[in-house]
Amino acid sequence: MDEKKIMLSGIKPSGDLTLGSYLGAIRNWAARAEEFDCYYFMADMHAITVRQDPAALRRRTLAQLAQYIACGLDPEKNTLFIQSHVHQHAELGWVLNCYAMFGELSRMTQFKDKSQKNADNINGGLFTYPCLMAADILLYQPDFVPVGEDQKQHVELTRNIVQRFNGIYGEVFKMPEPYIPKVGARIMSLTNPAAKMSKSENDDTGRVTLMDAPEVIMKQFKRAVTDSDTERCVRYDPEHKPGVANLMTIYSVITGKSYAEIEREFDGLGYGKFKPAVGEVVIDLLRPIQEQTRRILEDKAYLESVYRAGAEKASRVAEKTLRKVYRKVGFVAAK
Ligand code: TRP
Repeated sequence: MDEKKIMLSGIKPSGDLTLGSYLGAIRNWAARAEEFDCYYFMADMHAITVRQDPAALRRRTLAQLAQYIACGLDPEKNTLFIQSHVHQHAELGWVLNCYAMFGELSRMTQFKDKSQKNADNINGGLFTYPCLMAADILLYQPDFVPVGEDQKQHVELTRNIVQRFNGIYGEVFKMPEPYIPKVGARIMSLTNPAAKMSKSENDDTGRVTLMDAPEVIMKQFKRAVTDSDTERCVRYDPEHKPGVANLMTIYSVITGKSYAEIEREFDGLGYGKFKPAVGEVVIDLLRPIQEQTRRILEDKAYLESVYRAGAEKASRVAEKTLRKVYRKVGFVAAK
């Protein structure tokens, strides 16, 4: 028996993966498999709470999976799957809908945000999204759920559901903890260093995606905002020079050099030399990932074997939890 603690995370294939999420998170995921039994799934069912182009959603789901593998997530060591392939998510999602309160769901910041941004499509799924997310989590009885700041409230709601459900039926679900990784750089937008580099922001010129062509990456870095201070030198001062500090963080994370070393390296050279140098290390970092992603995407049989095996494993685990829940709430056993 595997005695490792369980970790699970879902990622919505609603945008392209960015350099920010790679440096801040994904890059550290490969090593996690040594310590945890990890589940990662492409949350395609969550993606449709906002209108998606079907062909684009399909393409992005597969591309995202391929990119994760290319970033070092070994399908032999991690369970990688597509959410809609494991029907138990929708089924437990329904049950949990009946254990989440209208008032609770109304307080979710993401719901309020998205309702504002999609005023013409405030659908029921957008509102009950956290119930599906709770199901995603609870099916696998994980110890930890790594999430960004923006998803913490949903994990809190999941914990409330666990308390409510277990309070009625006994210890059915394990109480999950949000897991905020200790290390992980926070990479900001190249054009607005006050905002995080985000995958879903439309036409964000401050973003570099994992699959951007080298010339696009270089262009992004050359036009990255630096700061309007007069000294124009490469110095780490996040408060007064947030643009430069962000570029230095990117450079530091990739090269392993300290801020002091970077300051020395670019001493007297100014931003005109520094910005393309950052672009260069990013291009070199992404080149093998891009090549590997393309190879994987071309090998349809391989990709299919990965998500099939992942769904099979996930479904076995999920089914156990779902059976138990169905029994507890009083459904007649089908077999
Ligand atoms: N809601 C998450 C997001 O938007 C994605 C997600 C769906 C998720 N189900 C999950 C994350 C379960 C962690 C656990 O980023």
